[in-house]
Amino acid sequence: MSKQRIAIVGAGPSGMAALRAFMSAQQAGAQIPDIVCYEKQDDWGGQWNYNWRSGIDRYGEPVHSSMYRNLWSNAPKEALEFADYTFDEHFGRPVSSYPPREALWDYIDGRVRRSNVKEKVQFSTAVRWVEYNREEDNFTVTVENLKSQTTSSTEFDRVIVATGHFSYPNVPDFKGIETFPGTLHHAHDFRGAEKLADKRVLLIGASYSAEDIGVQAFKMGARSVTMSYRTAPMGYDWPEGMEELPIVDRFDGETAYFSDGQTREFDAVILCTGYLHKYPFLSSDLALHSRNNIYPGGLYRGVVWQKNPKLYYLGAQDQWFTFNMFDAQAWYVRDLVMGRTTLPSAEQRAAHMRSWRNRFQALDGDADEVRFQADYIRDLITATDYPMFDLDEVVRIFLEWKHDKKKNILTYRDKPHRSVMTGTMAAEHHTTWLNELDDSLERYLSTPEATEVERLVRGRASAGGAPAEATTGDRTVTKA
Ligand SMILES: Cc1cc2nc3c(=O)[nH]c(=O)nc-3n(C[C@H](O)[C@H](O)[C@H](O)COP(=O)(O)OP(=O)(O)OC[C@H]3O[C@@H](n4cnc5c(N)ncnc54)[C@H](O)[C@@H]3O)c2cc1C
Ligand SMILES: NC(=O)c1ccc[n+]([C@@H]2O[C@H](COP(=O)([O-])OP(=O)(O)OC[C@H]3O[C@@H](n4cnc5c(N)ncnc54)[C@H](OP(=O)(O)O)[C@@H]3O)[C@@H](O)[C@H]2O)c1
Repeated sequence: MSKQRIAIVGAGPSGMAALRAFMSAQQAGAQIPDIVCYEKQDDWGGQWNYNWRSGIDRYGEPVHSSMYRNLWSNAPKEALEFADYTFDEHFGRPVSSYPPREALWDYIDGRVRRSNVKEKVQFSTAVRWVEYNREEDNFTVTVENLKSQTTSSTEFDRVIVATGHFSYPNVPDFKGIETFPGTLHHAHDFRGAEKLADKRVLLIGASYSAEDIGVQAFKMGARSVTMSYRTAPMGYDWPEGMEELPIVDRFDGETAYFSDGQTREFDAVILCTGYLHKYPFLSSDLALHSRNNIYPGGLYRGVVWQKNPKLYYLGAQDQWFTFNMFDAQAWYVRDLVMGRTTLPSAEQRAAHMRSWRNRFQALDGDADEVRFQADYIRDLITATDYPMFDLDEVVRIFLEWKHDKKKNILTYRDKPHRSVMTGTMAAEHHTTWLNELDDSLERYLSTPEATEVERLVRGRASAGGAPAEATTGDRTVTKA
């Protein structure tokens, strides 16, 4: 019997998880299918592969990554750690709980860089169209090599879609916004907060992008940061200079009119209004249509396309858990592909989806969502040989993280957490997040001498003379 052929679309963390899953089966002696992974960027890492460009890339493709230069992990690394490749193994020593983007890119790269899986990836190659052939029960995948500008088509037995869903910005209209004379863009195009120094900044949205770009702008010395919510405020105890107001009704020049009757003037507006699920290489009967939520409809066990169970999606959910969830999904899909697990009938799958969907619809708040996603991952890992880990402990870390943010949105990243995988306590970063202006991996792993001021501040804190938040307090005062 000829070997199955599998196409993976995208080599971000989800596509890399799929490559790793097949690799681990092969290392254990199994015969694996022929795999080709198509990645439109020149390297892997997906969102974590920073691109200074915005809009269009060097090949004229839409830029994929929405990450910015100053981005640090917004949740503890202990919540995303791979069960089969720990931070201890990668860095050889404890590192802090909230690494900057380069350090996390290095970690996901490190798990696979020494294997031969990169040979399976065709870089600078965009998938243009995936066609299901009913008679042959297979797919024709048409790709464009962006360097040579040549197209080609290949047949595959199954297709794994791992293209992410935080790259096509959701750009709503606001009355009069065309009259705004300042800088105006979506968070997808935001690359760094330095130029917001001394600016009056408006962020529209009330989720992670608004929160993080807001504190980045504050850190870089914005004159004021206003965040505008449609449904509910984030409700953090914002420092002086940051505020939340309800939704903008209209703009008139540099003035924004809010729905509660207040007005403010701004120099810069950033739309932090989220992203669209968009799969331009799939016909509407294969493409997922969903809002950004943790249980999109039409996907059995969150990964198998119900209408065509030879098509899989990885990472299509909104994400509390990330890297280890993509692993759980990838291991399960691998086992389906390799016949290690049998797929239930369409009716059984529908019943399974209904029961999870009912539970999803009854969720009440973030803590419920985190527990739901932990149970979802547990269900997948139980069906595979991916190492089970203490998901309840990760839930606890997430809840502690939420608590830390409520306590102080500017200092939560300074706190260390304990690894669920190794028991190692994270290190304290040599510099508080608010004072750290160098986001590079080199600086992150360095052990700089404390300056005299830092020594004095620490000395006061350890002598009980100043609270741990003193650094933040000093900075707030300096800014004002
Ligand atoms: C601004 C921002 C900050 C984030 N911060 C964090 C964080 O701090 N911690 C965390 O855990 N998660 C964070 N995330 C979540 C992030 O989505 C995941 O960590 C992870 O990158 C998702 O992996 P993925 O492989 O599913 O998708 P992606 O990372 O989006 O990768 C998809 C890949 O598919 C490729 N691709 C797309 N279309 C095609 C095509 N047609 N042909 C070929 N290749 C294609 C892309 O080039 C890309 O490499 C953040 C997301 C955003 C947007
Ligand atoms: N590492 C980091 O620090 C970092 C930084 C940024 C982003 N991220 C990640 O990036 C991903 C995406 O986050 P996101 O915040 O961009 O998207 P998101 O979580 O999907 O949130 C979208 C926000 O936009 C609002 N919105 C949508 N349409 C609107 C409209 N017409 N008018 C006003 N508001 C509107 C939504 O409001 P409603 O609530 O009313 O729907 C919501 O607050 C997440 O996974 C996040 O973790 C991480």
